[in-house]
Amino acid sequence: MFELVNIVKKFEDRTILDIPYLSFRENKRYVLMGVNGSGKTTLLRIMAGTLEPDMGEVKNIPREDMGYMPQSPYAFGFSVRRNVEMALPQSPSSAEKAMRALKAVGMDAMADARGHTLSGGETQRMAFARMIALPRTLLLLDEPTSSADIQGMDQIEATLLRYAADTGCTLILSTHSPAQALRLAEEIIFLDKGKIVEQGTAQSVLRNPQNEDVKLFLKHWKI
Ligand SMILES: Nc1ncnc2c1ncn2[C@@H]1O[C@H](COP(=O)(O)OP(=O)(O)OP(=O)(O)O)[C@@H](O)[C@H]1O
Ligand SMILES: [Mg+2]
Repeated sequence: MFELVNIVKKFEDRTILDIPYLSFRENKRYVLMGVNGSGKTTLLRIMAGTLEPDMGEVKNIPREDMGYMPQSPYAFGFSVRRNVEMALPQSPSSAEKAMRALKAVGMDAMADARGHTLSGGETQRMAFARMIALPRTLLLLDEPTSSADIQGMDQIEATLLRYAADTGCTLILSTHSPAQALRLAEEIIFLDKGKIVEQGTAQSVLRNPQNEDVKLFLKHWKI
């Protein structure tokens, strides 16, 4: 179990994250939701260790066996294949593993392209390939399909579900899309102004929300 205990993060005098307690079980899929600025990225960064909280602690995060995909992933100037390979321990099979991951997200044809020449959606797919190129205990993904087209989104979602089932990895991802949350989440955590305002199964949070802010957010959800 991965835990957050008494986490507080402030910028200047403003509290942007305040989580008395939150836990994540192994081999489960969690989705973080909330409007812009509600604290999703801050929470993921504190879990990933790229941001220090002002108070509190995170427990049992397997940082050496974890993948973190930031909201704006970075592409290096060398080839797309090398960009993925760099996430892997060096071995004779690392190029092959990188190619397999790229193929899973429909990016194998671009393996020789330079990383910095990719479009936003292509960069996101490449960064996602980095995440799934080897089995991990925990994946933290910050809006992993925000720049993907609908086909790319389907491909990433299908690959992610297969990966989670195959590896037993715990998944924590943020999204603005209730439809995506319904497809991917076993549990949804809804943030508002840095606090958890609703938490439960995807069905209960999306179909029968109790919190007024969650109800308001979901009012904009039209299919
Ligand atoms: N370095 C910083 N300095 C000051 N304020 C910051 C900093 N980083 C984040 N914030 C503020 O903290 C709040 C939470 O930001 P965060 O990026 O966690 O939101 P988010 O839920 O991920 O939003 P989005 O949906 O837009 O990605 C925002 O209001 C943001 O302006
Ligand atoms: Mg964010």
